[in-house]
Amino acid sequence: MSGRLEGKVALITGAGSGIGRRSAELFAAEGAAVVAVDINETAALETVELIGLAGGVAVAQRADVADPDDTKNMVARAESEFGKLDVLFNNAGIMDSSDGDAISTSPETWDRTMDVNAKGVFLGCKYGIPALRRAGGGSIINTASFVALMGAATAQIAYTASKGAVLALTRELAVVHARENIRVNALCPGPLRTELLMKFLDTEEKRRRRLVHIPVGRFGEAEEMAKAALFLASDESSYVTGTEFVVDGGITAAYVTPE
Ligand SMILES: NC(=O)c1ccc[n+]([C@@H]2O[C@H](COP(=O)([O-])OP(=O)(O)OC[C@H]3O[C@@H](n4cnc5c(N)ncnc54)[C@H](O)[C@@H]3O)[C@@H](O)[C@H]2O)c1
Repeated sequence: MSGRLEGKVALITGAGSGIGRRSAELFAAEGAAVVAVDINETAALETVELIGLAGGVAVAQRADVADPDDTKNMVARAESEFGKLDVLFNNAGIMDSSDGDAISTSPETWDRTMDVNAKGVFLGCKYGIPALRRAGGGSIINTASFVALMGAATAQIAYTASKGAVLALTRELAVVHARENIRVNALCPGPLRTELLMKFLDTEEKRRRRLVHIPVGRFGEAEEMAKAALFLASDESSYVTGTEFVVDGGITAAYVTPE
């Protein structure tokens, strides 16, 4: 069998749900050994079980990506379990339901959102890049969002700022580490039919309001993000670094959407 990630070791954060889980399953199906990281250990273990049932190789690791010790340990686990790290997918993220506009959002909500979504990417890279160097290079994928590229009237100021930080981080990391054979790209999903967003858009009215702006007329699927992440993880994207890989059903291209 020759999968698109054959022989590679991939660490995925937020692997207990949504994009992270689907990516863990797809990466394993394409031959990668996967470290499925999540703050929710039960969820990470479920992902590992799904991969095992499909004949893939994976281990679960509990970590809060905002915690330096946890992130250090998750990278160490990849090397101790599988001998190296080739792909680092910093995907874990939160969207707090109390996140709103500048006036209503509490400093606590701001701090936790930035800690997980932005500092989590920094810490993943802080400990992951030395491991990628030891492997002779690799691919880092940071999950940002289309909201880092456009303003939304549905206010979520901490989340939006945190995803803007992910894009800025990604660009600098890509430039700094380019000569080390380490590629760094951001994945910018549009609105998805995952738990994270459906909890935030918790009324039919809020969902309809968002759908109006999507040219393809539907929310995206985690599977569709996993396929894009697979391309960025694999050697097929060997000349791709520092990009904002937008997978959004056409939102950022639209001025007016079709009826
Ligand atoms: N769902 C969307 O519409 C959408 C759109 C754009 C971007 N994104 C981004 O995609 C990424 C994945 O989102 P999803 O939709 O799959 O969400 P999800 O809520 O389905 O999954 C997120 C996972 O991350 C885990 N997690 C949360 N905080 C963590 C922490 N501190 N440490 C480790 N794990 C943690 C959760 O337990 C969960 O398993 C996030 O970064 C999110 O911001 C999502």
